[in-house]
Amino acid sequence: MHVLVIGGAGYIGSHVVKELLKNNVKVTVFDDLSTGQEINLFPSAHFIKGTILDTDALGRAMCQNVDAVIFLAGKKAVGESMQNPAKYANTNLIGVINVLNTMAECSVKKIIFSSSAAVYGTPSYLPMDEKHPLNPLSFYGFTKLETERLLEWYDRLKGIRFVALRYFNAVGYDADGDIKGLEKNSQNLLPIVMEVACKKRSILNIFGNDYDTPDGTCIRDYIHVTDLATGHWKALQYLNDGGKSDSINLGTGKGISVMEMVQKTEEVIGHKITTAFDSRRPGDPDVVEASAKKAKEILGWEAEHSSLENIIQTTWNVYKKQMLNKH
Ligand code: UD1
Repeated sequence: MHVLVIGGAGYIGSHVVKELLKNNVKVTVFDDLSTGQEINLFPSAHFIKGTILDTDALGRAMCQNVDAVIFLAGKKAVGESMQNPAKYANTNLIGVINVLNTMAECSVKKIIFSSSAAVYGTPSYLPMDEKHPLNPLSFYGFTKLETERLLEWYDRLKGIRFVALRYFNAVGYDADGDIKGLEKNSQNLLPIVMEVACKKRSILNIFGNDYDTPDGTCIRDYIHVTDLATGHWKALQYLNDGGKSDSINLGTGKGISVMEMVQKTEEVIGHKITTAFDSRRPGDPDVVEASAKKAKEILGWEAEHSSLENIIQTTWNVYKKQMLNKH
């Protein structure tokens, strides 16, 4: 089986590539290296530097006996999507349409798409299952939902089957240390906690301590990126076995608060993280937790690497090495 991993040099993409290679899949990575990094590439995967806005380049990559596409090349900064919707429209909508049209031209009939819990918007019940209303609060979330709808049409019209994986909060690093690229300018919690831990940033501002949660800070469903990677592999096997198109959550069903994340990090790294309480960040719900039942039922998938300890330890190992040069 030959899989084209679009966005395979990125944070999640590189973990997916590792999982595919482990399972003896032939992999071609297609990435424009805008946020992906060369350091994340595996020598045993063929690499094409290209952008999804270039349909010729996509055609050359796709019409080479590709059996399936895994698409992880989207832009993902929620705040930025509200300030610069054009960038998100170009990559997350036009780019995705280019990919689907090229797949249709080259008769590639299977795609795993990285979607997001952002398609749901503010939770109206917990844990959130796939039947939860879809009301994205951000332009980013809108692009993910629109793509899921496009995928449904391309299935009906072109016979391209898909699994859209709705990730909750992706965290952690490959435990073997094979993936070394630190995300640049991440606005997400754990990368910021790590930068404070490495003294590259002076303080972690905790956005709100008056939420309706036991310690007053927001609760999220943090899923280890290695679990996300196995989810992609299982989704691909599901399509290979003739499974029908579907959208499926990838989360743990277990919430962790911002304070718990900070305290556990202090325990793992052995020193204090400087924090200060700041005002709430607009649009942040109190609690987000996934129902991962459908993934278990349909894909036979369950999170196995997502204990808080493992999330923090694997992330710290990479930050310590890459940011502090400590081995
Ligand atoms: C965000 C996106 C979500 C996307 C996900 C993964 C929003 C509203 N949601 O989730 O759509 O799928 O990233 O890319 O942006 N926090 C602090 N201080 C910080 C940073 C974060 O207290 O400096 C808190 C946040 O308020 C939140 C928690 O940490 O309660 C997690 O934040 P973050 O990592 O940004 O993820 P989400 O907002 O949950």
